[in-house]
Amino acid sequence: MADLDDVREGKDFGLDQPVEVKAFPVRGSVSLDWGMQDRLARIFQPKSGHTVMLAFDHGYFQGPATGLERLDLTIRPLVPYTDVLMCTRGGLRQTMPADSRKPVVLRCSGGMSVLTELSRELVAVDIEDAIRLNASAITTNVYVGAEYEHQSLANLVKLIDTGNRYGIPTMAVTGVGKDMARDARYFGLATRICAELGAHIVKSYYIDNGFEKVVAGCPVPIVIAGGKKLPERDALEMAWRAIDQGAAGVDMGRNIFQSDCPVAMISAVRAVVHDGESVDKAYEIYKAGKAKAA
Ligand code: 5RP
Repeated sequence: MADLDDVREGKDFGLDQPVEVKAFPVRGSVSLDWGMQDRLARIFQPKSGHTVMLAFDHGYFQGPATGLERLDLTIRPLVPYTDVLMCTRGGLRQTMPADSRKPVVLRCSGGMSVLTELSRELVAVDIEDAIRLNASAITTNVYVGAEYEHQSLANLVKLIDTGNRYGIPTMAVTGVGKDMARDARYFGLATRICAELGAHIVKSYYIDNGFEKVVAGCPVPIVIAGGKKLPERDALEMAWRAIDQGAAGVDMGRNIFQSDCPVAMISAVRAVVHDGESVDKAYEIYKAGKAKAA
């Protein structure tokens, strides 16, 4: 029986204070449901509004690429330094600790390899398994202009619709086929298509000319992929420029896990993304971290 002893009537309704309505700080997400906003708030850090995702999903089409031969040895030590794990369900289940409290952006596409046509993907994870893994977002590639453009966009629509049903946001990754131009026109087109179809986050590549226009034309947060391995200072400069031009963070893989000191590198990337540090300062952080680890 409910305890009805000492039920006290409410007295303090703060009648002199208006009820505060706080705007949700993630771009394009103000009208989303609570669960969706909660998941996005795990991804984008409250202080900076930005995110550092660690991408190590490459094995789903590249196999054991350099730096990803043993996820337990190369990626697990980086877990404390990242905001988000961006990976496949296999990589997550088999090698990542379940008690890290890091949100997961789950790679939910596959079905092709480096030996075949990259744009020919399918949805490779059922929404029930994404929920079972407590994914904070789900993700697939789109290949605008490629042979299987339509199929990749259909995959995105399917993820968005199933994710919406359960309050799970979708990140669209703008995959670039071998013959596609990597320019502002292309990424402006691809990122906008993803957002208009309902993606909650879009991952793009940084480009030297016109990136700020790509960001401006996309009504949801853009995070950048790192792309091929660059010298550490150049990768930090790319991250700095992207943030300066409006990116909401990075989803970086090779430029972190293929670095000669991945912990120092991800720490330096964090300094740029979250603390607004200059490239010089971030590079100092990288060098100091590397010296300490030696
Ligand atoms: C593949 C991906 C990868 O996660 C992405 O390319 C990020 O990794 P990197 O920084 O190594 O480019 O989404 O489609």
